[in-house]
Amino acid sequence: MKSNTENPRLIRGRVLSFHADPAETEDAFTYLEDGAVLVQDGRVAAVGDYADLRRDGMAEIDHRPHLILPGFIDPHIHFPQVQVIASWGAQLLDWLQNYTFPEEARFADDAHAARMADAFLTQLLTHGTTTACAFGSVHPGSVDALFSAAESRGMAMLGGKVMMDRNALPAVHDTAQTSYDESKALIERWQGRGRLTYAITPRFAITSTPEQLAAAGALAAEYPHLPIQTHLSENLAEIDFTLSLYPEARDYLDIYDRFGLLGPRSLMGHAIHLSDREVARMAETGTRAIFCPTSNLFLGSGLFDEAGLRKAGVVTGVATDVGGGTSYSMLQTLNEGYKVLQLRGQNLHPFAAFHWATRGNAKALGMEGEIGRIAPGFAADMVVLDSRATSAMALRSERIETLAEELFLLQVMGDDRAVVQTYVAGQAMKPG
Ligand code: GUN
Ligand code: ZN
Repeated sequence: MKSNTENPRLIRGRVLSFHADPAETEDAFTYLEDGAVLVQDGRVAAVGDYADLRRDGMAEIDHRPHLILPGFIDPHIHFPQVQVIASWGAQLLDWLQNYTFPEEARFADDAHAARMADAFLTQLLTHGTTTACAFGSVHPGSVDALFSAAESRGMAMLGGKVMMDRNALPAVHDTAQTSYDESKALIERWQGRGRLTYAITPRFAITSTPEQLAAAGALAAEYPHLPIQTHLSENLAEIDFTLSLYPEARDYLDIYDRFGLLGPRSLMGHAIHLSDREVARMAETGTRAIFCPTSNLFLGSGLFDEAGLRKAGVVTGVATDVGGGTSYSMLQTLNEGYKVLQLRGQNLHPFAAFHWATRGNAKALGMEGEIGRIAPGFAADMVVLDSRATSAMALRSERIETLAEELFLLQVMGDDRAVVQTYVAGQAMKPG
């Protein structure tokens, strides 16, 4: 990890970090009213009460009365869609054809990709997100742009070029062979460099021939430690079209299963309209389901069944899915997530919500030993939040008495205005 300073520094504030899932135990988090995080060489060296950690002459940053949490983690987002977000009037398949594929075609231009990668990371950091798992465009240069921009900021970033060889636009098609070769070259170039992780990225079954899913499966077999990201059962018309392309499959999930694409490192975006068999198979293989609430509402896709997946033992994450999603803010994502689950008759408690956006998403990504907590040895990736950031929030705050109430206010009314600072490996990164 990039070392930001020779000397330890103390970051002071109200420190909150989850070490367990609040749905499973009452002892799920540590909260320090006058806490501090000792940061050295990009990592948390110690966390505790300020009075215990302070030393004469040590550099200090005082964020009181704000909350210090682990940086948000966004496990499903499309970096070439920064200029697709807020495109009107379509559901998934039309939205892809009319807006998304033409926009992604522009990433053939390396200069455009570099500018968008920079803008994308600026948006993440503005919104308190320190790690994302991103889809690139079909062009390997899009991943080069994303990874070099992330590397220069010291960010833990996951991503991959989308593999897509049919049913889009010729300008954004590769082939089974070129997608294999280009993905492999990107893995060889980037994997393990800085804090970067290559994600094998077949876009979804509609845009891949069986030959291409076999190529993705071959990569997964050659690089079993790498994540795989794709989309699953987002929209009813998508599911019908998918099943018509793979008539031999039992269901949508079975397509990916047949090509060796399931497992604890596999991230299935959306995963809304699932049969009991699919849910059971996801649990059995350890395959992750990623909830994308703002996108699922915006594209009219459907309501994620968090309680059903949890009961079956499926590990889930929660993500923005920009540009189908409508905000980079994980706070707004939790806000919309709360509403989706309300429509399902389920409740998203603020402790569960903030656990999900931090340690929960780290777990979904298989990175729970590295990010998502403020604890000794973890990366010093943190967000500082102000629950009185707007006048409306300050007004509501007057009647708030508990930490849970304060977190819920942040979850419902917060966005980038509530992000006071974002630290990446101990370095202050909030733009502006
Ligand atoms: N399915 C395949 N590609 C995409 C995408 O870019 N966004 C969403 N929301 N779903 C998809
Ligand atoms: Zn997506």
